Amino acid sequence: MQSEIASIRLQAETDIAAVSTESGLEEFRINYLARKGLVAGLFDRLKNIDASQKPVLGKMLNELRTHVQKLFDEKSSGLASSTTKSVKPDLTLPGRTQFRGTMHPLTQTMNEIKAIFISMGFGIAEGPDIEDDYHNFEALNFPPDHPARDMQDTFFITKKALLRTHTTPVQIRVMEKRQPPIRIIMPGKVYRNEALSARSLCQFHQIDGLYVDKGVTFSELKGTLISFIKQYYGSGLKYKFRPTFFPFTEPSADIYITCFICGGKGCKMCKYGGWLEILGCGMVDPNVFECVGYDPEVYSGYAFGMGIERIAALKYGVDDLRLFYENDIRFLNQF
Ligand code: DAH
Repeated sequence: MQSEIASIRLQAETDIAAVSTESGLEEFRINYLARKGLVAGLFDRLKNIDASQKPVLGKMLNELRTHVQKLFDEKSSGLASSTTKSVKPDLTLPGRTQFRGTMHPLTQTMNEIKAIFISMGFGIAEGPDIEDDYHNFEALNFPPDHPARDMQDTFFITKKALLRTHTTPVQIRVMEKRQPPIRIIMPGKVYRNEALSARSLCQFHQIDGLYVDKGVTFSELKGTLISFIKQYYGSGLKYKFRPTFFPFTEPSADIYITCFICGGKGCKMCKYGGWLEILGCGMVDPNVFECVGYDPEVYSGYAFGMGIERIAALKYGVDDLRLFYENDIRFLNQF
């Protein structure tokens, strides 16, 4: 009988492993645990067994019964949990929303500006983010002691290599390789050693523009940039040109538009002046032409440059440039 107990125990373990349905489980129960099942049958036979063996065999039988019952119970709860999962979905749960991505506002701004200049006949050129002192400063007519050449304003990698502080060096790279006429815009990332604040970032984007040919005039610069401003900000807008200085242009100007937050009355956005500066421009300095081997007596040209974060912030009334880089979905969703 001892070996029978062991083999029934083994058989029960094999059988329970194969059970995967409620009806299979019921079959197992009838076979082993029911009143006429295998376990009960062994208990019946215990009555006729010699009294001296009864305590040992009785104990073994009890253990067998507990073990088989445990196999049954475990399988039973396993089946119950898997069937509720597959058979009873909770139809009252809310559905899962699918969020549609959009282009980042800075990419959108960049694309809109590019599209306007492309429609006016400009091509696109790019240059390296890691520049040398010559292209970033020297060829652009920056004097050796200009403050931008200080470690405080520029990220230097070595004495001569640096992260470009503007996209203007791309003008030099293009003019070195090509002859006029040239009419291009140059978008890209730029870097400055600035403390992060609502108004300044240490990495941002610019688009420079350059037009060189025989007989290019300041009135062409005005016409092109005014057309750009009206296309981008709307035709009702007021603007003004104000003289300024850049080493690489002469004469130079900044363009201002009426603050559209306050309509020119003065507010936090325009620092209570009523005007917002949106880009710098000017006629290419003859010294720059000489650096790239163009004859300034033959060619003239205009150039301009603007910061994309600033242009986007002014258009959408964003008062902290850092918002463009935090990628908070509540901010991005609005564009
Ligand atoms: N490079 C200037 C800056 O970073 C912007 C600029 C001004 C670019 C006038 C130009 C220009 O090409 O003509 O502030």
